[in-house]
Amino acid sequence: MNLDEFFKKSWKDYVEITPSAKRIVALLEKEGEVIINDHIALRTFSHSKVKMDLFSDYFISKGYLKKDHYFFPETKLNAFHFEHKEGPERPKIFISELDLGAFDSNFQTLILRLMEKVPSHKTFEDLYELGNPWLGVLSFKDYEFLREKSEYAAWLAGMGIRANHFTISLNNFKKYNTIQKMNDFLKFHHFSLNTVGGEIKGTPGVFLEQSSLMADRMKTTFSDGEFEVSTCYYEFALRYKCEDGKYFQGFVANSAGNIFESTYSKG
Ligand code: NI
Repeated sequence: MNLDEFFKKSWKDYVEITPSAKRIVALLEKEGEVIINDHIALRTFSHSKVKMDLFSDYFISKGYLKKDHYFFPETKLNAFHFEHKEGPERPKIFISELDLGAFDSNFQTLILRLMEKVPSHKTFEDLYELGNPWLGVLSFKDYEFLREKSEYAAWLAGMGIRANHFTISLNNFKKYNTIQKMNDFLKFHHFSLNTVGGEIKGTPGVFLEQSSLMADRMKTTFSDGEFEVSTCYYEFALRYKCEDGKYFQGFVANSAGNIFESTYSKG
C-alpha cells in the first residue's frame, strides 16, 4: 500500500461513517475552496499486535520522519507526530496509543480478549486492511464497560483501526481563512462544534489554532445487536509562522487533549 492508496482508503473508510465530512467538503468546494489536509489522526492500543511502533515502521518506510512526542496523563495516552521529508504537501500523521498498563486487570482482560482476534506478526498494512477485527466480538456491554474507564478505548474497540479524524488546513483558504470564520460557517450550517476548552483551541502565540466538530453518530454492529455510538469527526487547523519564519508543524498537547473529547457522546 503506497501513501496515495493509504490516504484514499483512509478517506473512503472515514466518510462512510462520517457523512458530515462529505457534506462539509461539498459546501466548501461550492464556495471555491480547495481542500488540503493538515493531518490525519490514528489511534491504537499499546499491545504488541497493534502497537504504535508498527504504525511508525510503515510511515517511516514511506518517507515520514518521527517528530515530537506528546503525553496525556489524564487519558493515559502517548502520541507522536510524523512529518513527510518532502514537506507539508503530504499531510502530517498524528498517532496516539493507549497505555494499557495504566488500567486495572478487568480492563486489560477485556482488551486481551479482543487482541485474540488480531492475527500475530502483522504489519500496519495488514492491520489496516483488516478493518475492525473486533466486529462481532465486542458486545455493547463491553463497549459501555470500556467507556466508563476510557472513552478512547471504547471508540477504538468499536471502530477498529482507521482514521479517527481528518483535519482541513485553513492556511490555503481564500474565504474561510481563520478558525473563527470557519466556525461561523459550520454553525451557520448547523454543525455542532466541540466546545471543550472553548470553540477555538490554541492561540497565535502557540502557533496553532484548531477547532473540531463533535463526532457523527451511527448505528454500529455489536455482538448483541446494533447500537448508536460516536464515529469520527472533522477538524480544522490554522498554523502560524515561528520566529524562524517557517510555519509551525507540531501540535499543542493541551489543544489535542481537548480535541480527543470530540468522540465523547453526550448521551
Ligand atoms: Ni487532530
